[in-house]
Amino acid sequence: MSVEIRSATDFYERHPISCEIILSKLKAARGHLDGLIPEDLFPHDQDHYGGLAANDALAERAGIGEGVRVVDFCAGLGGPSRYFAHRYGADVTGIELTPARVRGAEELTLRVGLRHRVRVLEGNVMQVPLATSSVDVVVSQEALLHVPDKGRALAEAHRILKPGGRLAFTDWVAHRRLSDADRALMWQGMAVADLYDLPAYAELVRGAGFVVSSVENLSREWSEILNHRLAMYRKLREETRAAGTPAGHDAFYESYVRFVDLVNEGVLGGGRFTGQKPS
Ligand SMILES: C[S@@+](CC[C@H](N)C(=O)[O-])C[C@H]1O[C@@H](n2cnc3c(N)ncnc32)[C@H](O)[C@@H]1O
Repeated sequence: MSVEIRSATDFYERHPISCEIILSKLKAARGHLDGLIPEDLFPHDQDHYGGLAANDALAERAGIGEGVRVVDFCAGLGGPSRYFAHRYGADVTGIELTPARVRGAEELTLRVGLRHRVRVLEGNVMQVPLATSSVDVVVSQEALLHVPDKGRALAEAHRILKPGGRLAFTDWVAHRRLSDADRALMWQGMAVADLYDLPAYAELVRGAGFVVSSVENLSREWSEILNHRLAMYRKLREETRAAGTPAGHDAFYESYVRFVDLVNEGVLGGGRFTGQKPS
């Protein structure tokens, strides 16, 4: 296992949003966990910027609908996968590296009765355990930033898509080169691998064999979202401190604060990319 991969799993094994935390919040709010529906989870299980609206933006661009076979790269706790299945009737397979997230996704999916349409497989997006030319759409949100060889992950997306299949994803981008100190901080605190600017990232998508349909700069809207998220992490941090701060949380928090500064300063930001595998 490469050092980048180990760092991503270490980070997500200790992430402040987990299946256990989501269920304990829901139990505290409802008094029990019986009869949960997908909508109960949606305020908690979307680990990307922009929540359900960001899912809708990808769904619209990738033509996700009833019966469409979607693969969600780096599916996390399966929040977007469940949303695409529940809201659009898609059949969704998530690929997720961190075993605790795979187990969490399985439990949450089971609890809301979506197992017939959603499964999250333990796997690495640089070596996807799915057949060639077998799916209609590949999506991903705020995750390829952890992947050491993004070109290889995009080539895997291209391989598993049927001819004419669609790719739609969002990810971090670096509009300007990070200082060595910031690179080290992002790596140590949030397992961030190499980043690209928008044109270089689009070139990577093209290099994997896709026709690039659109490249959108999301940096301004992310800045607003991230300032709210930082306030949420501050609150979570106070809550977890009351219960005993988990190891690694301080490094995460420190790098997150700097990340939000870098987005506010226009150094880092986000991009939404769509492409198509030629027919
Ligand atoms: C920020 S979370 C995003 C989760 C999900 N996309 C969402 O929007 O809720 C990033 C996820 O990527 C996963 N991940 C990181 N590197 C990966 C890889 N090489 N293959 C598969 N999953 C990976 C992490 O374990 C983590 O769960």
